[in-house]
Amino acid sequence: MISKVFSSATVGVDAYKIEVETHLEKAIPNFIVVGLPDGAVKESRERVSAAIKNSAFVFPTMKITVNLAPADIRKEGSSFDLPIAIGILAASNQVIYENLKDTIILGELSLDGSIRSVKGVLPITINAKKDGFKKIILPKENATEAAIVEGIDVFPVSSLVEVVEFLNACLEIKPCKVSASEILSTFKNYKIDFSDVKGQAHAKRALEVAASGGHNVLMLGPPGSGKTMLAKRLPTILPDLTLEESLETTKIYSVSGLLPSNQALISTRPFRSPHHTISDAGLVGGSNIPKPGEISLAHHGVLFLDELPEFKKSVLEVMRQPLEDGKVTISRATLSLTFPANFLLVASMNPCPCGYFGSSQKECTCNPPLIQKYFSKVSGPLLDRIDIQIEVPAVPFKELSQKELSENSETISQRVIKTRKIQTKRFENEKGIFANSDMTSKLIRKFCQLDTQGEELLKIAITKLGLSARAYDRILKVSRTIADLESSEKILPQHLGEAIQYRSLDRNIFA
Ligand SMILES: Nc1ncnc2c1ncn2[C@@H]1O[C@H](COP(=O)(O)OP(=O)(O)O)[C@@H](O)[C@H]1O
Ligand SMILES: [Mg+2]
Ligand SMILES: [Zn+2]
Repeated sequence: MISKVFSSATVGVDAYKIEVETHLEKAIPNFIVVGLPDGAVKESRERVSAAIKNSAFVFPTMKITVNLAPADIRKEGSSFDLPIAIGILAASNQVIYENLKDTIILGELSLDGSIRSVKGVLPITINAKKDGFKKIILPKENATEAAIVEGIDVFPVSSLVEVVEFLNACLEIKPCKVSASEILSTFKNYKIDFSDVKGQAHAKRALEVAASGGHNVLMLGPPGSGKTMLAKRLPTILPDLTLEESLETTKIYSVSGLLPSNQALISTRPFRSPHHTISDAGLVGGSNIPKPGEISLAHHGVLFLDELPEFKKSVLEVMRQPLEDGKVTISRATLSLTFPANFLLVASMNPCPCGYFGSSQKECTCNPPLIQKYFSKVSGPLLDRIDIQIEVPAVPFKELSQKELSENSETISQRVIKTRKIQTKRFENEKGIFANSDMTSKLIRKFCQLDTQGEELLKIAITKLGLSARAYDRILKVSRTIADLESSEKILPQHLGEAIQYRSLDRNIFA
C-alpha cells in the first residue's frame, strides 16, 4: 500500500515541488520520515499521529515509511504535516487516491486536527501553477495570499476532517478568489502625509529630488528636528508599486512569515527602520537557513538607518555590495541564496555625539577630536553610495505652530512620477539602469554634459569649497535629476548649484 501526495518547500524566495510518498507494510508498527528532514519534520510525526487519531480516523498499526523527495532540497517548517497525514490516510484507503494527483497540499496540524498557517504560500502557489497543478489546499489564514495567483484554484481549510471530506467529495469548498489589481488600487493609501511636516522646505525638496532620481540620502540634524518624521514619509511620494513590484516584495514577506493573514499583497512601499544594534545577519539576511534581512524586507521601498554612526562598522560594510547590485547573495557551506534588495537608503545622524553642534537651542559639549571620530565612523564606502546629504535644523517654534497646510504627498508624487518617466525613456536601451542614480561613469559622460559655464561653476565648487573628487559624479547625477524635474534637456547652472548644496558633509567636515 503506497500513496503519493504533492506538496512544496521554499528555498529563499523560490518554491519547489516536493513529493510525499507513503508506504505501509505489515510489520512491527513504526513511523519513519526520511528525506533530510530537520527537527521540525521529525516533530511533525507526533502531530500527525495525534491529529489522525483525534479526528476519528484510523492510524494504521503498521510500519509507516514517509519519504519527502527530492532529498536534496532542505525542508524546514511544519507545512508537511497535512500532506503526510493525507498520505497515510490515502495509503490506508481512507482518502480517495484519484483526487490527489493535480493538487498541492500544505499546512501545519495541531494535535486536535485543526490546521495552522504556514510560511511562503505566495511563491509556493506561483510555482504550483508553473508546474501545472490545478488545485492547492492550504490553511484558511493563507488563502488570500495564495489566491493572488490566477489560474489555480485555492481551497482554504481549517481541519483535517474538512480536507478528507473535501477530497472524498463529501464536502464542497468554494475556491478563494481575490483580484490583485483591485487590492493594489484599494489599499495603496498611506496613513501619513508630507503635509504633516511643517516648514523644512529645504529637506522636503531634497527628498523630492531623491525620490525622483532614486538617490540615497543622509540627513544631518539635532534630535527632534524631524528627521525620522521626514524619512517615514518618503515612501508616500514614490510612484505606486506596480503589480510586478508588489509581488516581488510580497514573496519576501511571505517566506519570512511576515504577511498579515488578512493581507494578500504588500500594497504600499515598505519602510524599514532597524535599530542600530542589529546584527549583520539581521540586516542583510542569514542565519543557518538563510532568510531575508531588513534590506530585503525594504525591497522596492525605503530602508532608514537612524543614527548611522551608532551602527557597527561591519554591518555597514556588508551593505555595500547590495547597495551596488540591488540584491544580496548569502553563501553557506551547503547552499547559496540570492534575495532581492533594491531599496532607497535614508540615513540620519546628529551633527556631533551630543547632538547640538551648531545649534542655537543648546550648547554642544563635544570636543573637536570627538566630533571628528564620530564622523569618521560613516566615511568611506557607504558614504560613497549616498548622493544627497542635507542639514535638517530644528524648525523654529513660529513655523511649527503654523496652521496652513503645506503641499501633500499626492501633489509631490505627481512630479516624481513625471520625472521618473523621463528617466525610463532615457534608459530604455540601458540594461539594469532605471534611474539617474544608477548611471555608470560612462552614462554620466553621455547624459550629463555641461556647457562651459557649467564646467566652470563645477570647477570652482570643487576647488574653492574643497569638494572631494568623488563628489563630482554624484553632483552630476543629482543635477541631472533636478534638470529632469523641470523637464529641462540641458543641465543649467541653477541645477548644478542646487546639487552642490546637497554635499553638506564634504563642505563642512571633510573639507
Ligand atoms: N517640521 C515638523 N513639523 C511637525 N512636527 C515636527 C516637525 N519636526 C519635529 N516635529 C515633531 O517632533 C517629533 C520628533 O521628531 P523626529 O522626527 O523624531 O525628530 P528626529 O528624528 O530628528 O530626532 C515628531 O514626532 C513631531 O511630532
Ligand atoms: Mg529620529
Ligand atoms: Zn556636541
